Amino acid sequence: MSIQQTLTEQERLARLDPERLRRLVGLVEHDAAGDPFPVTGWDALVWVVGNATQAAVYYQLVYGMELVAYCGPETGNRDHVGYVLRSGAARFVLTGGVDPASPLLEHHRRHGDGVRDIALEVPDVDRCVAHARAQGAVVLEEPRDVSDEHGTVRVAAVAAYGDTRHSLVDRSRYTGPYLPGYRAVRPSETPSPAAPPAPALAALAPAAPTPAPAPLFQALDHVVGNVELGRMDRWVDFYNRVMGFTNLAEFIGDDIATRYSALMSKVVASGDHRVKFPLNEPAAGQKRSQIDEYLQYYDGPGVQHLALATDDIVRAVDVLRARGVGFLATPDSYYTDPALRARIGEVRVPIDELRARGILVDRDEDGYLLQIFTRPTGDRPTVFFELIERHGSLGFGKGNFQALFEAIEREQARRGNF
Ligand SMILES: [Fe+2]
Repeated sequence: MSIQQTLTEQERLARLDPERLRRLVGLVEHDAAGDPFPVTGWDALVWVVGNATQAAVYYQLVYGMELVAYCGPETGNRDHVGYVLRSGAARFVLTGGVDPASPLLEHHRRHGDGVRDIALEVPDVDRCVAHARAQGAVVLEEPRDVSDEHGTVRVAAVAAYGDTRHSLVDRSRYTGPYLPGYRAVRPSETPSPAAPPAPALAALAPAAPTPAPAPLFQALDHVVGNVELGRMDRWVDFYNRVMGFTNLAEFIGDDIATRYSALMSKVVASGDHRVKFPLNEPAAGQKRSQIDEYLQYYDGPGVQHLALATDDIVRAVDVLRARGVGFLATPDSYYTDPALRARIGEVRVPIDELRARGILVDRDEDGYLLQIFTRPTGDRPTVFFELIERHGSLGFGKGNFQALFEAIEREQARRGNF
């Protein structure tokens, strides 16, 4: 079955095609003709961080991202710096205040490092904004053209949960590296994890062009939002009405939540499932919910985790762990549990290999997925990453909620503490 779909600029640059995206992120066929709010795909995740200059080096050296553009005082932006990084089709923009009066500094003081803007590429900004406004969305920035020598981008922004926003970007008339105001960064300006060759040796042997290493992740899969108790359905309704997103079947409700994980979760997705937003709210449990902890430390609703789609989760975990990234530990009982083997069946990686790395498995009627979660990326216990390798499954690892927590309870029971 062929999928005729528009690719985002980033996807074309990353040489992804619809078939590859179907495997990586679960793209499905969708007729955009009746879509009230057509979305081509992710444009960028725009972060506010405490030190963008250092974070840009971190994401290059640790996550293997490529620095492609920069803005700051040298390019005429006296308020803040911005570093644009990419890995496959995924684009991060790291911003940090320079002027002591920059609003980004106040944003950071309140929230810490986090994602301020989940920017989406759309074919018709004005149509999207008109529909959003008619459905009661707060329009933060009216549609406007921004131009430089590379052409014109049309942008607008609507408010999402907390201080999070969605920029809407039409870059069909633009050829620059990111947005007007940014300049392209040459490869020589980017750090390399390998030590530079000694000058004498370099003179003897002319530098052979070294092929860029394959990216550790190729695309964004989903971005999860944490909202306040009782507000999840309101935001599900927002994405249904304002963006025409549909609800996916995956639902983590009271039944699991109150006994094990103390959260409730629903998932909304764009028509072709390119853009997927799970939304969590805390559930009343015996202990304090992880969502409550997030809401306290982010000082309100915000982005909880970003799932990075990879075609080789084993390599990604090995490389990231060697570079110092911490992952959540998975109890051994998860892997020794006969129920797990019965549940997951055959997967491409032997279970012992998964166990050695703490990688989780989930299976549904469409296939399976491998996933793992990092520790929080910054100082506060807020935003973190997930790595996800899909093999047909369109889910989000729901089975792991129950399996993980049941495995823990069995351990507790063996110790006589349950
Ligand atoms: Fe996730």
